[in-house]
Amino acid sequence: MGPSPSKLALKAIAAACLASAAAADPDRDPCRALARALPGEVHLPDSAAYRAENMYWSNRQAEARPRCFVTPRGTMEVSRALKTLTELRAPFSVKSGGHTAFEGGSGADKGVTIDLVNFREVTVWSDNKTVTVGAGNRWINVSRALDPLGLAVVGGRAADVGVSGLILGGGISYFSGTRGWACDNVRSFRVVVSSGDAVTASPTENQDLYWALRGGGGSSFGIVVSFDLEAFPQADLWTNSIIFPGASNKTLIPLFTHLSNRGLVENPQAHAYFVLSYQPGISGFAVLTSFFQSTPLPNHAVPSVFQPFQSVPGAVSNVAQVVNISTQSMAIDQPSGSRQTWWDTSVSMASPKLFEDIVSMYEDYVHKLLEAAKGSKLTTFLVFQPISQNVVDAMQKNGGNALGLKPSDGPLMIVQISVQWSDKNLDSVVEGSSQSLIEDVETLSKARGLFRGFIYMNYAGKSQDVFGRYGRESYDRLKKTAFRWDPNGLLEDLWKGYFQVRNFEHD
Ligand SMILES: Cc1cc2nc3c(=O)[nH]c(=O)nc-3n(C[C@H](O)[C@H](O)[C@H](O)COP(=O)(O)OP(=O)(O)OC[C@H]3O[C@@H](n4cnc5c(N)ncnc54)[C@H](O)[C@@H]3O)c2cc1C
Ligand SMILES: *[C@@H]1O[C@H](CO)[C@@H](O)[C@H](O)[C@H]1NC(C)=O
Ligand SMILES: *[C@@H]1O[C@H](CO)[C@@H](O)[C@H](O)[C@H]1NC(C)=O
Ligand SMILES: *[C@@H]1O[C@H](CO)[C@@H](O)[C@H](O)[C@H]1NC(C)=O
Ligand SMILES: *[C@@H]1O[C@H](CO)[C@@H](O)[C@H](O)[C@H]1NC(C)=O
Repeated sequence: MGPSPSKLALKAIAAACLASAAAADPDRDPCRALARALPGEVHLPDSAAYRAENMYWSNRQAEARPRCFVTPRGTMEVSRALKTLTELRAPFSVKSGGHTAFEGGSGADKGVTIDLVNFREVTVWSDNKTVTVGAGNRWINVSRALDPLGLAVVGGRAADVGVSGLILGGGISYFSGTRGWACDNVRSFRVVVSSGDAVTASPTENQDLYWALRGGGGSSFGIVVSFDLEAFPQADLWTNSIIFPGASNKTLIPLFTHLSNRGLVENPQAHAYFVLSYQPGISGFAVLTSFFQSTPLPNHAVPSVFQPFQSVPGAVSNVAQVVNISTQSMAIDQPSGSRQTWWDTSVSMASPKLFEDIVSMYEDYVHKLLEAAKGSKLTTFLVFQPISQNVVDAMQKNGGNALGLKPSDGPLMIVQISVQWSDKNLDSVVEGSSQSLIEDVETLSKARGLFRGFIYMNYAGKSQDVFGRYGRESYDRLKKTAFRWDPNGLLEDLWKGYFQVRNFEHD
């Protein structure tokens, strides 16, 4: 049952009146109010600062037009900004690295965007076991500070991605085989909650919030200003990228599922993913297998779990290197400047046949998309990322995270689709067909008893039911925690753009 059309019309008129009242009453204009509360930190359209802040990885985000950006310089200023916005009931969003693919993910069109760019701290504690990382950093800022000290954290794999979104949604890392995801390695969070108070969330303080922020995203709970991350000794990393023609997929898939089920468990220092990409440059498909070993073997030998791939014929290139995290993360970074989408689901990795069939479905999908694109540039990626049993087990530390994956749910494979394109007119066909492809993968895996259903938030399409897929227990606990820290539903109502648990009905 929805509201009747006449009620909808009345609501629309009421909303329009309120909006014009806010615009007409300068005291209720959020950007003016923020400029009084945070002098010098509000940036209006057409300023150089606004243009710099409105840079995002995906063009779909960069096209949003916030009324202003606000750039708080400290925790008190985040608190003041949040109080100002909630008092005025003004819609807002929060930006860290701005790497969400879809429009509005971390920018509020016609609202206010809080840009955390000034939260630049990277401080290594004197015992070398903890690093305090400000919420506005990119991973490159962290690795540039840690590489020279022979330290690392469980963080993102690509240089320019923001620390905040990646950690709050989960965070797949080169080091996950022994340590779990990025969120599992947070010692504590400093966070400004709905009331404007700054609180600490850790295993000993506000444990419910500590649990929720490890995979529950930020926007239901508060604005994190800094993370205390567990640091560990780490020298250069062994990396190996092999590119094969697309036709090799059939040979490679059984090797990759075997690696994911067995090899990664035997050798938890190993990390791997599999990409089948349609590349307009070669008008065809290519497979990229990426392999990592956190402590290189003597003479930089290929770890035995990756050996089978070395002898698959037809490799177009095969590059092995030992490099620091900074160099590696820059090598796999993806430049901004395209329209982007991501969608994902997860399946059992017991059956190589399932992945062969997913590849066929992907091939049809690509051909249909190319037909619709009529020659305009479009690049697609089908990505398999294993969550091997050792990773699921490592996620149980610190009382477990919010993702809802129990040891008995593992192992599982994330199946992810991502597309880069340039023509805005293709948005709806790209979104619609990517959604359908992921739905088809779910239907097929269900029919074979191989469905897992966990959706990784940070690779999800805008309309995917991320929290629903965390399972009832985790979902209910997230809702309860959100209700405790945001009892009036202010964040739920006003913080726009990303995945939120819902406690209230909103207009
Ligand atoms: C090239 C590339 C490589 C990637 N590599 C990896 C990878 O190796 N592993 C992996 O797991 N994922 C990876 N991802 C996915 C990545 O985790 C997500 O895109 C993530 O959301 C990016 O974080 P961000 O801070 O840049 O995003 P933003 O778009 O800035 O933020 C994402 C969400 O978090 C909210 N938010 C931001 N800052 C805060 C804060 N301080 N407090 C509360 N909420 C906040 C925003 O409001 C928004 O809702 C990659 C993405 C790209 C584009
Ligand atoms: C992070 O590093 C980039 C690239 O070196 C630099 O431009 C940026 O200012 C740094 N950001 C912070 C928050 O230190
Ligand atoms: C921390 O690392 C630095 C740089 O390697 C080193 O000089 C220092 O002795 C280390 N401190 C401890 C307590 O291990
Ligand atoms: C990483 O390695 C490269 C190449 O050896 C080197 O130039 C660079 O300074 C190193 N980076 C850091 C942050 O240590
Ligand atoms: C996968 O491999 C099969 C067998 O070689 C081939 O027919 C198919 O075209 C390949 N798919 C892609 C997308 O390259």
